[in-house]
Amino acid sequence: MTASPPAPEAPAAAIEARGLTKRFGDRVALADVGFAAAPGELLAVIGPNGAGKTTLLSLLAGIREPDAGEIHLPRGEVGFVPQQAALYRRLTVAENLRLFARLERVDDVEGTVERMLGQTGLGERRDDQAGTLSGGNQQRINIAIGLLSSPAVLLLDEPSTGLDPRQRGRLWEFVLALAGRGTTVIFTTHDISEAERYAERVLVLADGQGLFDGTIGELHAAAPAGGAESSDFESAFVRFLAERGH
Ligand SMILES: Nc1ncnc2c1ncn2[C@@H]1O[C@H](COP(=O)(O)OP(=O)(O)O)[C@@H](O)[C@H]1O
Ligand SMILES: [Mg+2]
Repeated sequence: MTASPPAPEAPAAAIEARGLTKRFGDRVALADVGFAAAPGELLAVIGPNGAGKTTLLSLLAGIREPDAGEIHLPRGEVGFVPQQAALYRRLTVAENLRLFARLERVDDVEGTVERMLGQTGLGERRDDQAGTLSGGNQQRINIAIGLLSSPAVLLLDEPSTGLDPRQRGRLWEFVLALAGRGTTVIFTTHDISEAERYAERVLVLADGQGLFDGTIGELHAAAPAGGAESSDFESAFVRFLAERGH
């Protein structure tokens, strides 16, 4: 008799957080929040202003220390694209990429710059000042910088804020392709339709509390029923928050 192959194990999470708590003085910005995300998963963190979304990402990125809780990264590093990511407007596209590649201490700076130009599709703009690029193209450069360390997990804080619909579409094409190649992408947004469209799962925060972790369909089902004209996800989300006192 031949031995049966070992049962496949559940895929290891790319990132796992438990009990994350962060205080600023008396204010609890994040209270006992946990989740896990698989390789290649797209997870949206949604919630009202001040919910703790940026605080969560800054803890995951290792920029801030949590007051309690732990973060596990079994597969490698985290890349972070902050909401106010800054390029040097007077430097060219290539000069910006070179600068950040040096800061990241990559082995092959010029090779890395070429790879990033390919990745962003901005090779033809390499000698243009970064300040002359559209918001969408600047955001692609910011994401390429966030990807410099070839992270297993990419964190994007409000990545599409300020972009027009076409720029958004192209940004998401880029992000979806990354996830398709196995990068876990965790993004925050206050545009609920964007979470509905692109996220496989949503983590809902309000006043620092983790209220929900599941699929859009599950969140919809968890919301109190509304009238026929308010069956869309955004209305359901508002009812979900209201029912929980937010
Ligand atoms: N550096 C800080 N100092 C003091 N309070 C902060 C700081 N950063 C965030 N907060 C507070 O923590 C809470 C969560 O903020 P934040 O994570 O930025 O929320 P979100 O990104 O969901 O809008 C808010 O009440 C905010 O005022
Ligand atoms: Mg924020």
